[in-house]
Formats: sequence, C-alpha cells, structure tokens
Amino acid sequence: MYFNMSDIKIHTLEDLEHMRKAGALAREVLNFIEPYVKEGITTDELNSLCHDFITSRGAVPATLGYHGFTKSICASVNNVVCHGIPGAYRLKTGDIINIDVTVILNGWHGDTSKTFIVGKCTKLAENLVSIAKQALQIGIDAVKPYGYFGDIGKAIQKFVDEYGFGIARDYCGHGIGREFHSSPAVLHYDSNKKGDQILPGMFFTIEPMINAGSHKTKVLKDNWTVVTSDKSLSAQFEHTIAVTENSVEILTL
Ligand code: MF3
Ligand code: CO
Ligand code: CO
Repeated sequence: MYFNMSDIKIHTLEDLEHMRKAGALAREVLNFIEPYVKEGITTDELNSLCHDFITSRGAVPATLGYHGFTKSICASVNNVVCHGIPGAYRLKTGDIINIDVTVILNGWHGDTSKTFIVGKCTKLAENLVSIAKQALQIGIDAVKPYGYFGDIGKAIQKFVDEYGFGIARDYCGHGIGREFHSSPAVLHYDSNKKGDQILPGMFFTIEPMINAGSHKTKVLKDNWTVVTSDKSLSAQFEHTIAVTENSVEILTL
C-alpha cells in the first residue's frame, strides 16, 4: 500500500479517458494553427483562428477569462518567456513564437505548447528551440511511476547546463485535470529536493522555458507578459502527462 501524503489528486481510469480526449484536442489545435504561423500574420489573428477551432469542437479555451486573461491562447514571441497576450504584433521572418493552448473539454483540461520558427532564423534561435524541445523530452523520460518529481528538474538541468542556456525558475509545470493548475509545482531545474512521489493516477504538465541567456525573468506592466531580464530569446515546449501503474502517457502527442 502506498500512501499519498501530498495533496496531489489521484485520478481514475475513467478520468484518464476524459484527459486523453482533452489532450488530443489541444494537440489538434497546434497542428491546425501550424500552417498559419507565417510572416505577416498578427498574434491576434492566430488567437482568433485557435479560438474558433476550439469552440467549433465543443470545447472552451481555458485561458479566456482565466484570472482576467483576455485571450484564448498565449503567444510568446522572441524574448517573451510565457503568457504573451495576442495582439497587433505581426510576425516577421526570424521570429520564434511559442503558442500555448489549453482546452477544456467536458470539464477536463488539455495543455500543450510548441515554439515555431517563422521563416529562417539565426543559428542561435534554431539551437535554442531544439534544446527546449529536447529538454521537454528529457523531463518526460525522467518520469517513472513511484519515482519523484525532483527527478524531472534534475534531468532537465543536467542536459541544459551543457549548452550554457538558462532555465526559467519563476514558472513551472503543474497538476492538471478538472482544474487548470493544481499541485504539484513541477520544477524544471534542480532544486536539490526529492519532491513528492509520482504515483499512478497523477496528471501533470512539464513545460520547460529555456533562455538563451540568464534564467531571470520579469513581468511587463500589463501584468501578464513574462520576458527574460536580459532580453535574450526564450523557447518552450509543453505536454500534459498521465502516469499509470506501469506507464507514462503523453496525452498531448
Ligand atoms: N497554458 C499556460 C500553462 O502552461 C497557462 C496560461 S495562463 C494565462 O500553464 F492566463 F496566462 F493564459
Ligand atoms: Co501548463
Ligand atoms: Co500551457
């Protein structure tokens, strides 16, 4: 018998069925929007396209109205780490843009994001995006039923340190399910703590934000947009994960 001493929710297999559907839809939104992520489109146009796609599937964009956020996706360009608000900005060649989609389908959340390259970018940007993508995979590979949440950040940091990039510390992955954000806080860096035990029935995200420079971030005056303190580029990928007795399932693949 394993005792779950934390307040991390343990879900049923029936819950997992719902999460598979929510996760699959969130992924579909990213697939749908990909061909539109081109020079000349505004981030608000990307928002509208995603909004209409999500609602046409009978789902709700989770970010819309979330703590006052007014848009249906987050669109984070270049030095924006996360929580970028879609607006009048027009993409230009060489930009990198993270689109973060969270849908609520039948009351369950699917949360995923990806960084797209607009046209041709610098070698540095290309490398950063590639490392951010690999960092997510390395974090996922560190997840084991009956392992520990601390294993995730430890593995990601060991990998990212080699490239001299920074890992944002002020934002983390999170428990997910009927709620958008719940415990645990899934750290993407090594805090030298074991953390809670990873148990079957847990649903959570991993979403490392990797900066070309320092790990430090700040929030702009709009109270949402998170940027790198040193104005360096930042890239992020996110998946929603489910742990079962003998497997680790990526729900947003
Ligand atoms: N989807 C983001 C995450 O990965 C959260 C966005 S909350 C918002 O957790 F309010 F900024 F949209
Ligand atoms: Co998330
Ligand atoms: Co997200």
